[in-house]
Amino acid sequence: MKEDIKLKELEQKILAGVIPQHLAIIMDGNGRWAAEKGLPRHEGHRQGVESVRATVRNCNELGISVLTLFAFSTENWQRPISEVNYLMSLPEKYFDSELPELIRNNVQVRLIGETGKLPRKVQKAVREGSEKTKDNDGMVLNFALNYGSRDEILRAVNLIIKDLKEKNIKKKIDENAFSDYLYTAGLPDPDLLIRTSGELRISNFLLWQIAYSELYFTEVYWPEFSRMHLLEAIDTFQQRKRRYGKI
Ligand code: FPP
Repeated sequence: MKEDIKLKELEQKILAGVIPQHLAIIMDGNGRWAAEKGLPRHEGHRQGVESVRATVRNCNELGISVLTLFAFSTENWQRPISEVNYLMSLPEKYFDSELPELIRNNVQVRLIGETGKLPRKVQKAVREGSEKTKDNDGMVLNFALNYGSRDEILRAVNLIIKDLKEKNIKKKIDENAFSDYLYTAGLPDPDLLIRTSGELRISNFLLWQIAYSELYFTEVYWPEFSRMHLLEAIDTFQQRKRRYGKI
């Protein structure tokens, strides 16, 4: 009961302030959460999906415009095959159960990363998710799957070289033009980046886009990341002074 009151109070406080337009999250600590409970690692990922469901709902309700979730990195292929297979089964399960609600809530699903290299069933699930929500104009939900930021930047450079050559133009590439070649083209840069589980790293996530993002690290493992934790992160964000190099 006391917790409920605290939650409501924090929510009201936050809603009176500036809500981050774009929130990015490195969802970390699924394995350690499971290990501490004596469970197999996949149980941590299964519970991690529950946090995804809740966080998507919470962000949408709070009026966040873009939510980007780091679900699988280009480096995650190096995990044991059984774990990779389990992680690859999650998008299908998630969209099977959540798509009707995402459609109802006007959420637009997008994918960022080298999705062409994902197993066919994953590609099918995410294609269906983005197809069926493409006309929604509410919160954009970016799933980063087989995503690596250095790969993304190199891909952009190569696309630019190709474009300049093929179109025989010699235009100067400024920051805005470069951003248009990234997977996140057209979206605002993250205002806030959250990483759970106590790790203090960026791990090749949105390196270009987070140049001026506020960073928030919490000890909480992703499967336990609740609405209260989200509100606390936004509360901290609202107390930061964003100076963008000025004084
Ligand atoms: C990091 O925890 C987490 C991941 C590599 C996977 C994150 C994926 C989800 C939370 C589910 C994604 C959901 C959908 C719908 C695609 P870890 O395993 O590295 O944890 P550890 O550092 O404690 O071992």
